[in-house]
Order: sequence, then C-alpha cells, then structure tokens
Amino acid sequence: MLANEMPQNESTNQVTDFLPIQGTFYVEFLVGNAKQAALYYHYVFGFDIIGYRGPETGHRASASYLLGQNKLRFILTSPLKPDTPIAKHVYQHGDGVKDIALWVEDAAESFRQTVQRGAKPVREPEVLQDEEGEVVIASIATYGDTIHTFVQNNRYQGFFMPGFRKWENRALTSKPVGLQYIDHMVGNVALGEMNQYVDFYAQVMGFKQLVSFDDKDISTKYTALMSKVMSNGNGRIKFPINEPAQGLKKSQIDEYLEFYQGPGVQHLALATHDIIETVTQLKNNGLEFLYVPETYYNDLKERVGEIDEPVEALKKLGILVDRDEEGYLLQIFSKPVQDRPTVFYEIIERKGARSFGKGNFKALFEAIEREQALRGNL
Ligand code: FE2
Repeated sequence: MLANEMPQNESTNQVTDFLPIQGTFYVEFLVGNAKQAALYYHYVFGFDIIGYRGPETGHRASASYLLGQNKLRFILTSPLKPDTPIAKHVYQHGDGVKDIALWVEDAAESFRQTVQRGAKPVREPEVLQDEEGEVVIASIATYGDTIHTFVQNNRYQGFFMPGFRKWENRALTSKPVGLQYIDHMVGNVALGEMNQYVDFYAQVMGFKQLVSFDDKDISTKYTALMSKVMSNGNGRIKFPINEPAQGLKKSQIDEYLEFYQGPGVQHLALATHDIIETVTQLKNNGLEFLYVPETYYNDLKERVGEIDEPVEALKKLGILVDRDEEGYLLQIFSKPVQDRPTVFYEIIERKGARSFGKGNFKALFEAIEREQALRGNL
C-alpha cells in the first residue's frame, strides 16, 4: 500500500524508484573483540561463522568475522591498531552498529543519486576484485557515525565479498535458532532530530513514512519517546527513528544517547516463523530478555482477541502480543548485548500485522509502573 507508492514520472506515468534496494546485504558491528563476539553470536544466537577477513587476507588494521543464519549476515570487526577510525569508534561508542549495508543493482548510481540529493559521501564508489569476480561498494553517512554502504555483487561468484575467505572450525556445529531476516532496524537520534532524519530518508533515499500506530507519541506518565517509521519502495527496508520526548524521568532513549555518546542503532528486530521455539532456544542459550510482569497477561485476550498461540506459553517466555487492523504480531526484547546499555535485539513474528507493537510499549511500561507502585517506588 503506502510503502509501495513511488513518485510518479509525470511524462510516462510510470512508477520510478531512483534507489531500488533488494534488501539488507549485511550489518557490520564494530566491537572490542570480534573473535570472542563471533562465538557469542554462534552459541547464543545460533549463527554460523562463515567468513574471515584480517591480516592473513591482507587487511592489516582490523579483523572481521562474517556470521550467517538464513538471510541474516552480520560482520563483526575489531581494530588491531589504536590510531584507526575503527579503534576510535569502539573507544567512543563501545560495541555497536557501524554499517547498514544495502544490496543494490548499481552501487555507483545509488551513490550518485543520494549524494546529488544531499547525502554526505563517506566512500567513493570502489571496485573490489578477486579471482571470483568483482563487487562495487560506495558509502554515505546517516545518523551519528552510522553509514550505509551500497553493495553491488551481480558480477561476483564468491561466497561473500572480495577480502573474505571461508572460515572453518569443525569443532563448531551448526545450531540455528530459526532467525530469518531483519524485520526492521531502529535508530535513536537526539531530541529534535527525528524529523531531520525522516526528511533524510525521504528526500535523499526516496523512502516513505509508513502509516502505522507508532508514529505518534509513545508515552506513559513517566516514559516518553517519539518514533516515525521510514520504509523503502518495496518495503524490504524499514527504519524506525526514535527521539526522546519529555517525561518525568530519564527515558531509555536518553540513556542510550548518553552511553553510546550520540545517535546510533538502538535495536535490530530479527524475524522468526516460530517465536515460541526461537525464544525457547535463545533463553536456553543464555540470552537475557526484558522482564514482563505477569499482570501484562491478565487482560491480553481483551486487548488482542483470539490468537493461535497458547497464552500460558507466551507468559512463560515473556512474549508480547499486539494487534493492528491487518493482524497481530508477537515480539520480545532482549537486554542490551554489551555492558553499555545500548544495542539490544527484538525477536518478532508477524501474523499479518505490519506495525511495530506500539500497544506493547504502553502496556509493558504501564505494567512495570503498576508493579513499581505496588512496591511504593513510583
Ligand atoms: Fe522494534
């Protein structure tokens, strides 16, 4: 619907998308110790470690591990030397997302189109080559120190990108937990900056704002944030942008901005086709999720109506449910996955709903506040 409405070309009346995107190509995290983080993502999130790039492959200043699970591809990169942009990024922000790479048919043209519309260039189009062919990349800046790299791989036969070699460790057995693809990735920006980045995605990238239940204030008496969701032409890329709103207490967005030292990716929502099974495995693997008060489930049926999943199973795992006009969704939020209270994960299963769970923010926050009140702490 709205997500697929593209600007009309007046002369031919044909639908045009100046930035056709086939999907997320990879997400690159800059971390303090990529070797250890790779094992965390393997053992906890069920990723396979499939590729490596580092000094042995000609990269002198950093080491990277490529992780995969179904359509998900993450790169974890660590600096090997102190006076490098990667080292400075890790020093300032802690572990976090540096690059949301977008898969395109023509990277140079994507770069040209977006820079012409006002994007800040980060890396001019460059052809990476090896014996398997060539990949073209080019990067532009988005919020904070985060970037988008356009990746064009239609002339490449290799397993990922030039510079990476296959990683093999026979001691690691593949144990996927059913994570499929990125449903959405949320950015936190500073107070007053949300509309600036909404405009960036609209004007520079050609995205549309999704009409959803999340584009108004998400607030309780004490916690507040504002959020708008931007989506590309084919709807495969969805970027909600949050900014803190005035509440009686420091919001979770304010806390993020303080510890990340500025804007950045707040959470990645990973899709599953069986959230009960996926979350059961993630919990068994040691991933910690936000606590959901049992009171949340007392009025669940009244709020969301009939659902396929047994409420008892959802309650046992702490899975939340929200409904919109098109269906419902199930979701759960992890605790931050590093010591700074910054990046966390959402696990989501959609049953028709295309929104983002606004009803849960309010219900969850209010449930937490009810418990605080019972303890005399509100
Ligand atoms: Fe989300």
